[in-house]
Amino acid sequence: MNQKKIKVAVTRQLPEPVETRMKELFDVNLSNSPYPLNIDELYEIVYDCDVLVPTLGDKIDKNFIKEAGKNLKLIANYGVGYDHIDVLSANNLGITVTNTPNVLTEDTADIAMALILSIPRRIKEGVKKLEDNEWDGWAPNALLGHRIYGKRLGILGMGRIGQAIARRAKAFGIQIHYHNRNRLPVKLEEILEATYWESLDQMLARIDFLSINTPHTPSTFHLINARRLKIMKKTAYIINTARGEIIDENALTRMLRSKELAGAALDVFEKGNEINPRLKELDNVFLLPHMSSATIEGRIEMGEKVIINIKTFSDGHTPPDIILIN
Ligand code: DGY
Repeated sequence: MNQKKIKVAVTRQLPEPVETRMKELFDVNLSNSPYPLNIDELYEIVYDCDVLVPTLGDKIDKNFIKEAGKNLKLIANYGVGYDHIDVLSANNLGITVTNTPNVLTEDTADIAMALILSIPRRIKEGVKKLEDNEWDGWAPNALLGHRIYGKRLGILGMGRIGQAIARRAKAFGIQIHYHNRNRLPVKLEEILEATYWESLDQMLARIDFLSINTPHTPSTFHLINARRLKIMKKTAYIINTARGEIIDENALTRMLRSKELAGAALDVFEKGNEINPRLKELDNVFLLPHMSSATIEGRIEMGEKVIINIKTFSDGHTPPDIILIN
């Protein structure tokens, strides 16, 4: 007798191999939209389903979860960040939530490193000069940036991605400093040659580059606010590949405009793709459209993780990437 397949709703178009595998394994409601569905479409797609696979940009809040249907037992997020899901409300209704850690780590760290290199060395301005046909040839004083070797990088959030950035930065001769809720084991600090700062403010005052790699939670919202930005050296650069909400984007824009900070390289923004227009106008910024994890290999591995989480759950076991709120 055919075993009844678990019903899965996916809110966004995923890479083809992931969708094909899902179709083989599950009774799946796929979305053909690359962008977030509106609330009515979300309700329609989740109706009757046992599992919802949302992703970044979907607002899976308390109200949605309450109305999502009595069959919903698992929210298997396609992505590592889960600030768009009210995990506590889901858990209170007996719904398990999972994510896709690890598989985005190296790709995200690569782009963070590229941003660390790009902004002090004025890569964007150099490319623009060429593209605008404004390059008149080499000159001793043209496009002088700042040396990266020997500088101090402060990593805010020393989890998997923070550590992957530290490994890369160390190879470039950069000194590693970090602030984290928990200090790393001494052995790991030795391997990374990383200096721990219990006080974020004290670290901020001493570093040349700040890389933000902490999740967005109520306690990290605007953690880098106007007061903390002012603590930083005027010559410092900020790199953000985590979540835009962690920096007060308006305060950052003001300080970049008034040259109270040297520059910023950002892959994420406080209001998604609505970027402060004043920020976009500046030469001392390098902006990317949230693409730090965008590799085909990574996206397929994210899908594989989602599938393993669903399969393990439907076989009656705890999924490997269950999110536990403490
Ligand atoms: C995630 O999975 O949360 C990432 O931000 C996507 O790049």
